Amino acid sequence: MDKIDLYQIHFPSVLVFWDGLADCFDQGLVKAVGVSNYGSEAVRAISRTLAARGIPLTSNQIQYSLVYRFPELNGMKATCDELGVKILAYSPLGLGALTGKWTETSLPEGPRGQIATKLLKDPNWSLLLDAMKDVAKQHGADTTLSQVAIAWCIAKGTTPIPGVRNVRQAEDNIRAISLALTGNEVAALDAAAAKVAPYIEPTASPFNNLRQSFDTKQAMYEA
Ligand SMILES: NC(=O)c1ccc[n+]([C@@H]2O[C@H](COP(=O)([O-])OP(=O)(O)OC[C@H]3O[C@@H](n4cnc5c(N)ncnc54)[C@H](OP(=O)(O)O)[C@@H]3O)[C@@H](O)[C@H]2O)c1
Repeated sequence: MDKIDLYQIHFPSVLVFWDGLADCFDQGLVKAVGVSNYGSEAVRAISRTLAARGIPLTSNQIQYSLVYRFPELNGMKATCDELGVKILAYSPLGLGALTGKWTETSLPEGPRGQIATKLLKDPNWSLLLDAMKDVAKQHGADTTLSQVAIAWCIAKGTTPIPGVRNVRQAEDNIRAISLALTGNEVAALDAAAAKVAPYIEPTASPFNNLRQSFDTKQAMYEA
């Protein structure tokens, strides 16, 4: 390709790359620039820096799903919406949990097994899956929970990027593009999701330390 569609910084700690992003944009190497795992203050800071060169910050790729709603609760989503920065929602299926296929007798391998065990112990987890099944039923027999989880992200104005391991999953998930949830359906899913204990606290996320490190460096950078 002649131009990369979107050039993103993966982590918030690497301030030195900001001018590099802008240089790539100005030289016509990329069509748009974005970031990933940035907090609200970091998004505001890089938006200001890019705006000074007449370049929009296009996106912030962050974890966001029915089982990880912190961007709604901590102001991150509101900041992106206010600044016109598109949220690319990663892990929109909760690493697979929101497909509804994890059960006591069918646990995923590796670290996801611990997440599954935690969720399956939470009585509100099965109530969330029930709420998703109710929504799926309203949209036809072929509607899956994966599609509902992805459609919820779309209904919130984000662009979800689900991972897939095979063609069947890809064909399943892509059908979410034409699944438009009603306001009542989104509200019902929100209410059920709000009761589920999160599978990871932001304070336990390695990205949180990077954000704190960013806040310190940002003050130095802007001084
Ligand atoms: N920017 C960042 O720091 C960051 C961090 C993490 C991820 N990401 C990106 O986000 C994207 C997706 O996130 P993710 O893979 O972590 O989580 P996810 O999209 O929530 O879950 C994806 C997993 O769910 C299962 N799955 C997907 N579709 C399914 C279907 N229709 N039916 C049944 N199972 C299905 C598959 O795993 P199994 O078949 O094994 O169950 C798949 O690997 C990736 O492209 C990744 O690069 C970015």
